[in-house]
Amino acid sequence: MHTIIMDMKDGPDETLICQAGEIIRSGGLVAFPTETVYGLGGDGLNALSSRKIYEAKGRPSDNPLIVHIADFEALYPIVKEVTPMAKRLGEHFWPGPLTMILPKSDLVPEQTTGGLDTVAVRMPSHPIAAALIRAGGGYIAAPSANLSGRPSPTRASHVIEDMTGRIDAIIDGGDADIGLESTIVDLSCGEPVVLRPGYIGLPGLREVIGDVMLDPGLLREEDGVRPKAPGMKYRHYAPRAPLTIVDGTEENVTEWINAKVLELSGRGEKAGIICTEESKDAYRQGIIRCVGTRSDEATIARHLYDVLREFDALGVSQIWSEAFDTPKMGTAIMNRLIKAAGHHVVHV
Ligand code: TXA
Ligand code: MG
Repeated sequence: MHTIIMDMKDGPDETLICQAGEIIRSGGLVAFPTETVYGLGGDGLNALSSRKIYEAKGRPSDNPLIVHIADFEALYPIVKEVTPMAKRLGEHFWPGPLTMILPKSDLVPEQTTGGLDTVAVRMPSHPIAAALIRAGGGYIAAPSANLSGRPSPTRASHVIEDMTGRIDAIIDGGDADIGLESTIVDLSCGEPVVLRPGYIGLPGLREVIGDVMLDPGLLREEDGVRPKAPGMKYRHYAPRAPLTIVDGTEENVTEWINAKVLELSGRGEKAGIICTEESKDAYRQGIIRCVGTRSDEATIARHLYDVLREFDALGVSQIWSEAFDTPKMGTAIMNRLIKAAGHHVVHV
């Protein structure tokens, strides 16, 4: 399949958006930028499109897709009921990096929801995403536009790497601003529960809808408590090289990692280090990648997946990362990093 690359680095292009919308409406697939990560879009109300999405990603089809809308009114036809809580969340956080789960209406095919009777809905704030959704018929089902098992794409080059030849078109809208997938909140059964942490944290949600808890399945691994979002139970992304998170005081962490890197380079192997502006000068050897600065944690979220992809390409044999328990986005950043590390954390 030939994949068209549509350049919209300078913003939505009306002619190209029409063309991309037509592809979606006729059952094709278009990858597009959102403020979180790039999405792999198809018509959310067309069972065949959803099937194609699973195929292009190489993703198990029991893992449900998020339906993206561009206007709040578009929520009504696809859910059983728009609850007062959904309304309040929509007013505060949409368009933006929040996904809500609600009981679905018959309009949404089971293929889109992985057989579940609930649907995940999000209204992205990215202008290209909004324009494409409207041009594509109003409902775009989109998982992150990576091959299953790779980090979510935060740049068009990541999507081009994973999806060329597998889908009809890729819209290049520049780098994603947030860099981590949306916060998912389940409103389908009584108390609201966060199934996936993201840019919008628990304190922000609590200000708007009162008590919200974090899915207990996200916090523990060993005791058989499973995460409720089907996608959170998969190993997701594991770098080619083993990744270890090193937690402790800055001095202990840099010293510990330096010793490990020295050991490895003695054997002629390459080691990768994930660190921040604050600590980068303390490392002496190895491939040192600064993800951002602790004084602006959004920079860490924005660059994390790009750095992980780069280490895959560089063929390092071990990766060590500092821990990023930052005040606001720390839960989301560490959730992704711990999964990539297969829960391998050392305290020094
Ligand atoms: O930021 C995002 O949310 C990006 C952009 C493209 O919008 N999308 C994204 O989609 O991350 P995906 O498919 O990679 O992750 C969706 C997650 C999966 O973990 C899936 O299991 C969960 O949402 N999910 C979807 N529908 C669900 C449902 N009805 N009940 C529980 N979990 C659901
Ligand atoms: Mg994904």
